[in-house]
Amino acid sequence: MLETFPGSITAVVQGSSRGIGLSLVRRLLDCDRVGRVIAGARKPAASEALMELADTHRQRLRPVELDVTRPEQIEALAASLGDEGLRPRLVLNVAGLLHDGADLVPEKRLEDLDAARLERVFAVNVLGPALMMRHFLPLMEGDGKAVFAALSARVGSIGDNRLGGWYAYRSSKAALNQMLHTAAIEARRRFSNVIVAALHPGTTDTGLSKPFQANVPDDKLFSPDFVAERLLQVIDDLDTKDSGGFFAWDGQAIPW
Ligand SMILES: NC(=O)c1ccc[n+]([C@@H]2O[C@H](COP(=O)([O-])OP(=O)(O)OC[C@H]3O[C@@H](n4cnc5c(N)ncnc54)[C@H](OP(=O)(O)O)[C@@H]3O)[C@@H](O)[C@H]2O)c1
Repeated sequence: MLETFPGSITAVVQGSSRGIGLSLVRRLLDCDRVGRVIAGARKPAASEALMELADTHRQRLRPVELDVTRPEQIEALAASLGDEGLRPRLVLNVAGLLHDGADLVPEKRLEDLDAARLERVFAVNVLGPALMMRHFLPLMEGDGKAVFAALSARVGSIGDNRLGGWYAYRSSKAALNQMLHTAAIEARRRFSNVIVAALHPGTTDTGLSKPFQANVPDDKLFSPDFVAERLLQVIDDLDTKDSGGFFAWDGQAIPW
């Protein structure tokens, strides 16, 4: 795993408290190519699972407070890694917002559109990863393969949208894809070793999909551990020619 990356890998995962992000941290720690994992979470201490991992892997796992809706925290984390001379080879943007189990629910029709809720979703799904690109891509410049990836979603594909609904989530993921594609073009010129990619994990059994799982066949609902393994394989297989692309958990390209 991660054989295509040179040397000992420093990985940054934002959105690591639970779900797919937590599984990615766990899988990265299982990989002996990975020297260090910086795991960002809004409240790291509130995630028992993350704290347990940190106990077991004291030298390799560093949980850090990182709320992606707080630009100053993103900037400070990048600056502190830079000061330490740590150059991340892998930056994974995982945090995502679809519903909050309370008043934020995906819209079914135009009348459900609400400015404050749209802003909340865009803050996590677009502005967070965009500012991560702003502060982390320059840190990743150098020799050898590096990957900056963000978890998008197939429902963000405009070409694939036949059902409608879910305005905020769909359009935030479409905007995220455009951010990544645009940064990939600039990266080719300025940070040519860095591959930038949007990834779709498939429907995964986490809090995010929980309210919408009723019609998902068992064999189409993945475990977070399976998805983490698959996504790291897709990342391992990425080449510079893939930069700026949108890929599913099985490596298939997804239409914009
Ligand atoms: N599950 C699926 O079926 C599916 C399908 C397609 C795409 N995706 C995408 O995959 C990614 C991971 O989803 P998931 O299923 O693992 O979701 P999840 O179980 O709901 O976890 C969401 C994660 O995002 C974090 N987060 C939310 N707001 C944040 C903020 N402001 N700053 C930092 N972290 C924040 C949460 O942290 P807290 O614990 O602090 O809330 C949590 O760790 C998302 O981008 C999602 O859109 C998921």
